[in-house]
Amino acid sequence: MKEQIHADVERIMLTDQEIQARIKETAERLDVIYKDRNPVVVCILKGSVVFFADLIRNMTSRMELDFMSISSYGAGTTSSGELRIIQDLRTDIQGRDVLIVEDIIDSGNTLYVLKKMLNERNPASLNIVTLLDKPERRVAPIEPEYTCFVIEDEFVIGYGLDYAERYRNLPYVGILKRTVYEK
Ligand code: IMP
Ligand code: MG
Repeated sequence: MKEQIHADVERIMLTDQEIQARIKETAERLDVIYKDRNPVVVCILKGSVVFFADLIRNMTSRMELDFMSISSYGAGTTSSGELRIIQDLRTDIQGRDVLIVEDIIDSGNTLYVLKKMLNERNPASLNIVTLLDKPERRVAPIEPEYTCFVIEDEFVIGYGLDYAERYRNLPYVGILKRTVYEK
């Protein structure tokens, strides 16, 4: 009973404490930039929801929140450059400072297309903060302005990240057991 989702984790990559400490640092950096800008802070659903909730609560800047749900077409575990908007922003971002909160940047295809799309709405600025970055896998020319952790090329779960919609509620970032994939 106690084990449940934890039993499927091979190794913990980032502990809850490590994540919280790094988020605090990142929030302080962001406050310096955004304190007088009333930014629109955008949560990219669903993967970013846990990071977003912790990040915004560590920031003291006045801000507005918005949510966007997107899915990138692509076979299996890789995304393509085609983006489908499941749920768009409700805020008009023209002239606004926008901060996109992402869980992980892998190939970069998703954010590359998203950034282009949002830039067409003429925001005053458009920056990206990501919890995780896997630079080895990058295909699209995109770099986040703020990164909490650069990680090696492993498929990770937890703290919002899923495998087949599961494990998002793990409090840490971990590596899934192979046996789970091979089941
Ligand atoms: P990209 O377009 O390849 O950068 O894809 C980014 C998206 O792929 C992320 O927002 C995640 O939803 C998903 N993704 C990429 N790598 C991982 C991973 O290691 N674990 C879970 N999801 C991942
Ligand atoms: Mg995602």
